[in-house]
Amino acid sequence: MGFPERFLDELTVKTDMIALVSNYTQPVRRGTRWFARCPFHSEKTPSFTVTPESGLFYCFGCQAGGGPIQFVMRAENLEFADAVRFLAARLGLAVPEEDDGAFKVKRERLLEVNRMAARWYYETLSGEGERCAEYMRGRGMSPAFARRFGLGYAPDRWDGLMMALGARGVSNDELFHAGLASRGQKGGLYDAFRDRLMFPIFDLRGQVIGFSGRALSGEAAAKYKNSAESPVYQKRGVLYAAHLARKSEKPFWILCEGNVDVFMLHQAGYDNAVATCGTALTDMQARLIARHVSETVLAYDADAAGQNATGKASSLLEAAGVKVRVLRLRGAKDPDEFIRAYGSGAFDKLIMDSSNHTEYRLSLIEGKHPPDSDAEKLEYLREATLLLAGLPTQGERFVYGSRVAKRLGISEKAVLKDVDIAVAKRRRGAEKAEQAQTLRPRRQQNSAPLAEEKALAILFRRPELETELSAADFTNEETRQLFLARETPPHTMSAGTARLYAKLMAEHEGLDNDAAALKDCERRIKERALLAAGDVMAKYKRYKDTKTPKETRDGS
Ligand code: UTP
Ligand code: MN
Repeated sequence: MGFPERFLDELTVKTDMIALVSNYTQPVRRGTRWFARCPFHSEKTPSFTVTPESGLFYCFGCQAGGGPIQFVMRAENLEFADAVRFLAARLGLAVPEEDDGAFKVKRERLLEVNRMAARWYYETLSGEGERCAEYMRGRGMSPAFARRFGLGYAPDRWDGLMMALGARGVSNDELFHAGLASRGQKGGLYDAFRDRLMFPIFDLRGQVIGFSGRALSGEAAAKYKNSAESPVYQKRGVLYAAHLARKSEKPFWILCEGNVDVFMLHQAGYDNAVATCGTALTDMQARLIARHVSETVLAYDADAAGQNATGKASSLLEAAGVKVRVLRLRGAKDPDEFIRAYGSGAFDKLIMDSSNHTEYRLSLIEGKHPPDSDAEKLEYLREATLLLAGLPTQGERFVYGSRVAKRLGISEKAVLKDVDIAVAKRRRGAEKAEQAQTLRPRRQQNSAPLAEEKALAILFRRPELETELSAADFTNEETRQLFLARETPPHTMSAGTARLYAKLMAEHEGLDNDAAALKDCERRIKERALLAAGDVMAKYKRYKDTKTPKETRDGS
């Protein structure tokens, strides 16, 4: 969309990626690729790669990737068109007029229809929306903030929006494509949103791209109804209220679950609150956050589902290079309820008290076993040891180990020794699981054998080492992909594979005698591949045994 394709190609071909990237980080050549510390997230070991021939970059740590245009968009925080102009100016090229492709026209029209709908819902709120306004008052939502958020009312009729927008030249088909009209079983169209408090969803530029509607009556099929996906609205990349949060001066964002939570937080002075739109946090959303802030406070619901989502979101955010603190709601289900019950000052205290994920999990253990008797102290220590043994780095184990020691009033050495023992135990468990796996057929394996991971860690660290392995030797999809990624352009790598890379780089630090270790891994991998092949042959034999007599019979 926008600029002619061949002009974009020309930009991409003419841009020297290494020179471009060197303005932001210091790439170092390794084989056909260049490595550098990622300019988009903070890291100690370089996981940002550039392949000059293809003009592509990829970060294994935060999964940023693309060509020169995408690089400039992120590095300079520019929209697509401005990034194109930036690169053109750098090369001294004249920028051709943007062409008015059909796709762009359609997109523009969808945005226009969404904008018109938002305006109509907003107007309707002060007309026939008295019940909705009453509902909002009941929930403590102020009219001033309702205006800022563009809240509106979808009336309890089948064709309210269709009639109103129809009179302004919007066809029913267009409403359908915008997800604002639904098709009934007999093919007729009707308003998708009825008798709901409407929250427009905005993109980062502040354009309406969809809606989330809160039912006013308990009889509605669903409490919240969200716009269907459309060319302008893709849930996985959108965060509710991000267009406001990006202007916040606060150095972190608050991530919560609900639209009302976001609204109430803004109203209470937290102009940095955002939410996913009824789905779990995605990779794309984590990267969106990473582009704006380096820290997030997770304020999910206090129930089990919310806590579960907290764990998942924090892994994604940490993988994207965002520091995570977890807020513990006490005495309320969600931020909205908390603020209404205790006020914004109390919420501020929760934010100050919020801890990073390890601290948070330690505090859960402390809640279960308040260490005021010897028995509880031992339980606390036992659970904390297991938690710490699972931490990826020695540094983290040390930091939190000493914290636990202080809390329990015992020596640091004693705690760290327990942790070391637990770490060794975990490793033995993993080795055992690997041995057990060699006996199982390939299909059932869902975690990569240690030898494969270790071999990959060595190969990435020492690209000059020769290997006898081929992709077919890898039994797990992610290790196989990662092996292939040594050769292929980085943008073909899945998020799972990129995470595996990051994990391997963190886990396998400082391997000496690399060449010998690689040989050893190769031997183990080849042996296992043989065993797995044997397994297939055995199966094939059984298969034939069942077939052959029948075929013989048929043939005779
Ligand atoms: P909750 O059920 O926690 O609701 O859903 P809430 O935010 O506390 O809503 P109120 O306070 O009762 O109004 C959290 C979020 O999950 C999505 C919505 O985005 C909601 O804000 N959701 C929930 C849906 O998409 N559909 C539903 O039926 C329910
Ligand atoms: Mn709520």
